[in-house]
Amino acid sequence: MKENAFREHALDFSKTYLFFHGSILAGYITILMDKQPLKIEKKHSLLSDFKEKTEDEYSAVPALKIGRMCVADNYNNQLESARYCGLGKIMFASVLSHANELKGKVGCRVITTHAKKSTRAYEWYKKIGFCFSHNDEKVKSMLADGNVEAIPMFYDINRIIKDD
Ligand SMILES: CC(C)(COP(=O)(O)OP(=O)(O)OC[C@H]1O[C@@H](n2cnc3c(N)ncnc32)[C@H](O)[C@@H]1OP(=O)(O)O)[C@@H](O)C(=O)NCCC(=O)NCCS
Repeated sequence: MKENAFREHALDFSKTYLFFHGSILAGYITILMDKQPLKIEKKHSLLSDFKEKTEDEYSAVPALKIGRMCVADNYNNQLESARYCGLGKIMFASVLSHANELKGKVGCRVITTHAKKSTRAYEWYKKIGFCFSHNDEKVKSMLADGNVEAIPMFYDINRIIKDD
């Protein structure tokens, strides 16, 4: 975060938001613009639904991306030593609010991310409503592949395309 956030901020490539609990830096998010491709793999019913629900042949959906998201150890729900929980959800609520603002002003339909494998962040994203951008078969192989660090996921802001 320290290495890249300032540089990207100055270039207007991404913006980083810090979340303080009193004077303690408890978490941060980095957001930037993105697109969710609609290149449909076989057996990916959710992206197929998206394609069917748009009347024209769009190749991608406009998106806001979560580039980085992290809470400090004392706020990390997965660590037994943590004293606080729920910050991740609060930070996601703020991303959602940015996305809804963009939706009204310039067009933005999904939130995308590359969810880290090492921290099993993809399970957290699933829990809050994200879907995998690839079909089950591809996700399985990405999870098994040691060279793949993160899994692409998306969240439909309008909650029409979602996993049940
Ligand atoms: C992923 C992360 C942002 C989640 O934030 P958090 O504040 O710990 O999570 P929350 O308190 O908002 O969790 C909400 C729910 O998700 C669950 N949860 C949290 N982390 C989870 C995980 N990795 N896998 C599955 N469930 C998880 C919580 O148990 C909680 O469940 P509940 O509502 O039933 O009580 C945080 O754990 C983190 O910073 N991890 C390390 C960095 C990282 O992986 N960032 C993502 C990069 S893509």
